[in-house]
Amino acid sequence: MKRKDFLQSVLGASAFFGLSFTSLGPNNTAIQDLINNTKRDIEGSMFGFSTDPIPKVRVGIIGLGNRGNTLLEMLQYLIKNDMAEVIALSDIKVEKVNKSAEKLAVWQSKKPTLYHKSKIEWQKLAKRADIDLVIIATPWDLHTPMAIYCMENGKHVGSEVPVASTIEDCWKIIETAERTKKHCMMMENCNYNEEELWVLNMIQEGVFGDITHAEGAYLHDLRALMLHDTYYEGQWRLHEHAERNGNFYTTHGLGPIAFYLGIGRGDTFSHLTSMSSRELGLSIAAKQYKHPIQAYKCGDMNNTLIKTEKGKTILLQFDVHTGRPYSRINKITGTKAVHDGYPSRLYIEGEKPEYWGHNWLKDEAYNEYKGKYQHPIIKKLKTVSQGFKQGHGGMDFIMIYRLIRCLNLGLPLDINVYDGVLWSAITPLSELSVAANSQSIIIPDFTGGTWRKENPLEIMREV
Ligand SMILES: NC(=O)c1ccc[n+]([C@@H]2O[C@H](COP(=O)([O-])OP(=O)(O)OC[C@H]3O[C@@H](n4cnc5c(N)ncnc54)[C@H](O)[C@@H]3O)[C@@H](O)[C@H]2O)c1
Repeated sequence: MKRKDFLQSVLGASAFFGLSFTSLGPNNTAIQDLINNTKRDIEGSMFGFSTDPIPKVRVGIIGLGNRGNTLLEMLQYLIKNDMAEVIALSDIKVEKVNKSAEKLAVWQSKKPTLYHKSKIEWQKLAKRADIDLVIIATPWDLHTPMAIYCMENGKHVGSEVPVASTIEDCWKIIETAERTKKHCMMMENCNYNEEELWVLNMIQEGVFGDITHAEGAYLHDLRALMLHDTYYEGQWRLHEHAERNGNFYTTHGLGPIAFYLGIGRGDTFSHLTSMSSRELGLSIAAKQYKHPIQAYKCGDMNNTLIKTEKGKTILLQFDVHTGRPYSRINKITGTKAVHDGYPSRLYIEGEKPEYWGHNWLKDEAYNEYKGKYQHPIIKKLKTVSQGFKQGHGGMDFIMIYRLIRCLNLGLPLDINVYDGVLWSAITPLSELSVAANSQSIIIPDFTGGTWRKENPLEIMREV
């Protein structure tokens, strides 16, 4: 959508609902950003973008907390096989970089340089001429400034989720990647999970027919971890829940769905509406913990509905305040089949109306589909990765393996800059909709119309 049309539609929508921008309160800034940063022209599409092969990828990691350490471990196989090498590590805590360096010393003889003396020492890492790829695993608000700084300094970037937290930052990431011609991959590991890859493979092989609807989520009881004194450095995650309201963790559910639906590859998100429930779970827990912050703006459950340009719908949920079993839902509905996750179940439409109906496949038939449509990369990497740490049941290893191997071979990355930015943008847009009584919000087109082309899904056909 052109800047003028987009402006009109946002202004029109707000006039229709009797809202002025100022009535949106704190989200006034967000809507202003949305308007001010609506895309003009693209500076050269990054679809299918690749660079010269990098036979051994030289890596720097910023942020060595929970996630940074897991990502470091995922590199072990690649280091051992001369495909990657860790050059430098950075964190604001000296004990964290030291611990990670000790871990690395077990499988890499060359010692990394450590940066830990200030909040901006990571910039020294980003400026080094002997690093190709910077992996970022810091709190959310640092992802965009770090990613941009790294690209400006000639580095490819692998950023933890989400890659951006405001619409303005989404545009900055796109513009920087297009101008500097650097990869900026948001490392959404759930796109590499065995179940999601199996479903994707079945969709690509036509098992589902035409897709109409999908559901995804991040339903994960994080109360104890968020309220823990030291689990998240400085309790950064808890502060997000005190200050904002919407879906903060869109990408684990939405990333795989975007691949199922061909988003950026013939379809794109058109608009969304979002609604949060009242907040109870985290504040009750905070009282039990006698935590000084006992009021939280983020509702316990956020429901966001997204419609695509081609008429598909998506329900996306977010709840980390409630005691419940973990789920990303992973539901996909097509004209010939339905999948529902947690636990995984498959329905295949019978050929005649008398076979239509009410039952998931029984174990034997389900397992037949499991075997027949297992994704090729799972088959290959299950053997390759034996004896190495897997991370979240294997998906973390496959993600890092693919990122490094694509750089080694000079192939396009599986998740391009437009994917990561679009999946991340749902957070600020959900906040905007929640603040405006679930007003329908147009989702910007970050690709400059390139989504209309049947761009191939680069993912994992070559390894
Ligand atoms: N994909 C997944 O499955 C997954 C799982 C867990 C976390 N994450 C993501 O990883 C990121 C980090 O989460 P976490 O659980 O590891 O949090 P964490 O608090 O354990 O780690 C963040 C680290 O960043 C460091 N840091 C903060 N400011 C810094 C700065 N200026 N310079 C250098 N280092 C700095 C902190 O000291 C800390 O060690 C988040 O974006 C989170 O959403 C993803």
